Amino acid sequence: MSVAALVLAAGRGERLRRSLASTGGAENDLPPKAFLPVAGRTLLVRSLLRMAEAEEIDQLVPVVPEAWLARFEAAVAELGPVRGLRPAVAGGAERQDSVAAGLEALSGEVSHVVVHDAARPLVPAEDVRRVVRVALECGAALLATPVTDTIHQIDGDRLRETPARAGLRAALTPQVFRVDWLREALAKARADAVHGTDDAALVARLGVEVRVVEGDPINRKITTAADLAWAEAVLQGEPS
Ligand code: CTP
Ligand code: MG
Repeated sequence: MSVAALVLAAGRGERLRRSLASTGGAENDLPPKAFLPVAGRTLLVRSLLRMAEAEEIDQLVPVVPEAWLARFEAAVAELGPVRGLRPAVAGGAERQDSVAAGLEALSGEVSHVVVHDAARPLVPAEDVRRVVRVALECGAALLATPVTDTIHQIDGDRLRETPARAGLRAALTPQVFRVDWLREALAKARADAVHGTDDAALVARLGVEVRVVEGDPINRKITTAADLAWAEAVLQGEPS
């Protein structure tokens, strides 16, 4: 069995840009979100280094915007060797397209694929290892956390239904799948014109069982300027 991780970094970070614009920042000069530094290292590099700590993962494939391929390779060259790191590949317009582009780049011996958002730079390596081990046994698994807010289903500005909080989980990454299942799930989503923000939801549409592994809530996605400031504060004083 061979495990490859796609580290997705090809998004633009529109919500982060908008949140910086609303506080008067120079949002037009910003690199894509995953290329922003937090405590001296970009979100993407931090995510790659955390994934490299998980021994179950054999290769790491960064998925970056096409225009950033060369700059990324130059930046990682300065990092020194990172275990399992492969050349970056160009992502697509939507997250699902970036996953598909990453899958295309994998060689035939890969049996399982780990999908991770570069925008989650604080993922604990131990959580990565746990979710990979479960997926190696069961075929599909994701990290998730209990939700702390009550979640309502709405219809316009009307409350429709309030599912019991105990039965809800917020999806994190990594999400780990048999590579043939993820390929089939993406093909089926395309055929059914389903655009998901979550790969586990697409794999579950195949009718296979997807295991939910409790993850540490520190593995938060950096979406807005407030999240970036939070990550900066968490990393203050941590050895990098
Ligand atoms: N991503 C990607 N390719 C895309 C869109 C997103 O690789 N076409 C990646 C992002 O780089 C990010 C992860 O998927 O690491 C999760 O996406 P999200 O947090 O939504 O990031 P962005 O799409 O960049 O942000 P926004 O939605 O605010 O534009
Ligand atoms: Mg997005």
